[in-house]
Amino acid sequence: GRVDVPNWTPRPAATRFTDISDIEGMRTAGKLAGEVLTMLEEYVVPGVTTDQLDIIAHNYIVSVQGAIPAPLNYHGFPKSCCTSVNDVICHGIPNEKPLKKGDAVNIDITIIKDGYYGDTSKMFFAGPAAPHVERLCKVTQESLYLAIKMVKPGARLGDIGAAISDYAHKHHYSVVEEYCGHGVGTTFHGEPQVAHYGKPGTGVILEEGMTLTIEPMINAGKKQVKHTGPDNWIAKTKDGRLSAQYEHTLLVTADGVEVLTLRPEETI
Ligand code: MF3
Ligand code: CO
Ligand code: CO
Repeated sequence: GRVDVPNWTPRPAATRFTDISDIEGMRTAGKLAGEVLTMLEEYVVPGVTTDQLDIIAHNYIVSVQGAIPAPLNYHGFPKSCCTSVNDVICHGIPNEKPLKKGDAVNIDITIIKDGYYGDTSKMFFAGPAAPHVERLCKVTQESLYLAIKMVKPGARLGDIGAAISDYAHKHHYSVVEEYCGHGVGTTFHGEPQVAHYGKPGTGVILEEGMTLTIEPMINAGKKQVKHTGPDNWIAKTKDGRLSAQYEHTLLVTADGVEVLTLRPEETI
């Protein structure tokens, strides 16, 4: 018989690169994904529909970047990016509804270039946002940044997840538990799963060459999720309150981290 060792189940290996050509491929993919977000900034205004934003992103990815929008037809997902407005947590599907003044929308871009994936998202505002909206988004971005600063060989995902949730809770927000970051490389979603909560001193130990995302979803109200839309793709807050998300694709380097999807205006 089998010895009852916890976690004996073989798990697929984490995405981990050693060849410089792979790392260069991931750098290029990450840079392109970040550039799509930068390009979109001027188009996110009151009155624009998320369908229009999706088409702008799609055309830029395909025609300017010579890349592939990974979400399109991914497990049946119908569009080229995710647009998650206000109480939508993630996987919002672009539609014909115009953004209203003060709406907060996460646009999540994943591109494939030469077989390598770059995955990143940020919050945009259609016109000026209310202070409570800005505050949630700022804390969410800060939670991503503090997590990124912990990434290095030997770091444990339980510590990183705990740091994110401690930070959110300190600001009286909640952390979505149903969705997590992930290994990313020549596939969209691989090992390890990167939860945005955790138990210190536990979890996967990071190694040089791993490529993964961190993408906390933080809610103004309660953490509970409800699903709607085609194939239940769209995750919303159960209480109808605001949710925010930021995401970067990361490379674990010999002595720390490289943010592959970093945008020029960002300092971490
Ligand atoms: N980009 C999302 C992530 O960060 C995944 C979107 S899957 C889709 O993991 F099919 F909805 F696009
Ligand atoms: Co992701
Ligand atoms: Co993403």
